[in-house]
Amino acid sequence: MAIDELTIEQLRLRAGEKWTHYAADVLPAWVADMDFEIAPPIRAALEQRISNSDCGYPVSPMDTGLPEIFSARVRQRFNWDISPSQVDLFNDVVQAIYFGLQALSGEGDGVVIQTPIYPPFIGATESTLRRLVLCPLGAGPQGYEIDFDQMRSAIDSSTRILLLCNPHNPTGRCFSRSELEGLAEIALTNDLSIISDEIHADLVYSPSSHIPIASLSPEVAERTVTLMSASKAFNIAGICMAFAVFGGDAVRKKVDQIPRHLRGGLSALSVAGVTAALSESQPWLDEVLDYLQGNRDYLTQHARDKWPEVGYHPPEATYLGWFDFRAFDLSPNPYAFFLEQAKVALGHGTRFGDPGRGFVRLNFATSRAILEQITNRMDSALEHVSVNTA
Ligand SMILES: Cc1ncc(COP(=O)(O)O)c(C=O)c1O
Repeated sequence: MAIDELTIEQLRLRAGEKWTHYAADVLPAWVADMDFEIAPPIRAALEQRISNSDCGYPVSPMDTGLPEIFSARVRQRFNWDISPSQVDLFNDVVQAIYFGLQALSGEGDGVVIQTPIYPPFIGATESTLRRLVLCPLGAGPQGYEIDFDQMRSAIDSSTRILLLCNPHNPTGRCFSRSELEGLAEIALTNDLSIISDEIHADLVYSPSSHIPIASLSPEVAERTVTLMSASKAFNIAGICMAFAVFGGDAVRKKVDQIPRHLRGGLSALSVAGVTAALSESQPWLDEVLDYLQGNRDYLTQHARDKWPEVGYHPPEATYLGWFDFRAFDLSPNPYAFFLEQAKVALGHGTRFGDPGRGFVRLNFATSRAILEQITNRMDSALEHVSVNTA
């Protein structure tokens, strides 16, 4: 695909943070943007808006047609039967998480979070003065696992919310039906609301498949707000839009009590781009997923051959690899080590919470040639490093 023809020189011309944040000799594999060119229908829709000077206020969210397009799509892809009237739009997923936390809990209330975790989960809980109820995923022989007993004992009477990330960033877990049922049972028993961030739902590799937790039963749906977006799968995070699906009126009413204006207005470009993404760009996404799966498999093989001491479970979803470098003496930490010695910018493990100490996250959504440069640079940097025997 065209991504194979992209050059580092072209990528550096992009103004986004992925390719500008670090010095020109650094290869970026950090923030969750892909290097792939956007789907042709999205490009055409954006170009049409601009060439027609069509950048005025867009129609109101319910008149965009997006709730209908979105609900038809999730029915088809995830077998999830929702009505367009349950769908609302936000500026982005993280904004909707803040709204959910504010609306569904009070100061000091507990929020269940499965660390290591996408950093804004921690930031949003702390900055809204809620309390982190940390439920770490443990690395089992087959991958990261939920410790249900630990979760049950961590929850107390002031715990209000399960802030779920499924598929999970950074471990790449795509939770199974029985795992989701276990989480739902805990939410029902403890009367927790569920905010389920499912932004990576479209980036799942066979044989895994995405199950929205709200699709488990009407009782679960009723207490859940599900957050999805076209931004990760279609590589349009910078044009900003997220979908919230309310399974019950009570949850929706609470969220709607927060003045709507705090969400900001819809962007005319996001309406155009997201419509084209969801209604016309599936062939592009299928091709991208195939390519990503090839990159994931390359990385898995590379880790097995070259970094046998490194803890790594290939992701079932997402384009993010989560690597445990604790077996190496990487000073002062793996992130800084690879940035300085390999000139590769990875995600800093500790930003994902305490269980991320000694880990890095590698974004492999780039051309195979660039990915090979990244792993080769990391290999060279590791050549003279001893394995930690302590
Ligand atoms: C789990 C998760 N949620 C939310 C986001 C950000 O979404 P948005 O840009 O819509 O706020 C990301 C971005 O990588 C993510 O991985």
